[in-house]
Amino acid sequence: MRKKIVAGNWKMNKNSEQTEILLNELIAQIPASCDAKVIVAPTFVNLASAVNHLKNTPIGVSAQNMHQAASGAYTGEISADMLKNIGVNTVILGHSERRAIFHETDALIANKVETALQNDMNVIFCFGEELKDRQSQNHFNIVENQLRDGLFHIQKKDWEKIVLAYEPVWAIGTGETASPEQAQEMHEFIRETVRKSFGSDVAEDVSILYGGSVKPDNAKEIFSKSDVDGGLIGGAALNAKDFIAIVTAF
Ligand code: PGA
Repeated sequence: MRKKIVAGNWKMNKNSEQTEILLNELIAQIPASCDAKVIVAPTFVNLASAVNHLKNTPIGVSAQNMHQAASGAYTGEISADMLKNIGVNTVILGHSERRAIFHETDALIANKVETALQNDMNVIFCFGEELKDRQSQNHFNIVENQLRDGLFHIQKKDWEKIVLAYEPVWAIGTGETASPEQAQEMHEFIRETVRKSFGSDVAEDVSILYGGSVKPDNAKEIFSKSDVDGGLIGGAALNAKDFIAIVTAF
């Protein structure tokens, strides 16, 4: 049975005091009966305190990125070992902002996935087409290529460490959301693509999250679709009330 997951990607927001305030609100207000696994991804400098804060709670912690090398002369970078050492076992890779602003290619992301798996980490693998791709009806091709080039080098057994996050770039931070039907259509295609290469058991078990302007008022409808297993939330994850409303939308 695949898991329902709601993950909050805080991006470059919240200093350490603000991080603590939001975490306290989430701890106090997320209902124990909640159906979904909740994960938060604060910035690197606040990860260690988040792990400490969330000890003995059901809320998980993820990093937003990491470097592919084990160690060395990579000024400003963070390794898998450093994350594991402070108790962070999950990392978001391939986010569209990393691809667009920091020029991360499918090949580089594939490398990072490899490093994460070698370090026994869970990966939230992000991918999704740009507006021009959808307008030219090329969105299925783009999504399939991102999956094949960035992820499909892994072995069948590795899939238990993978969560997919389909995030159409035109919907991220824009207030524009894919309709529940557009999300379902693409998620079904993604599951089918996984099925063709790795078999039905893997395809049925992998959680596929939708990301891109998920808000309290549209979460329920998006999450009601059969191939949407949760969400990767940006802007609305920065506010406890909105994030909790999304978490409880299942
Ligand atoms: P958004 O961001 O919810 O603000 O659109 C989603 C994401 O980038 O993961």
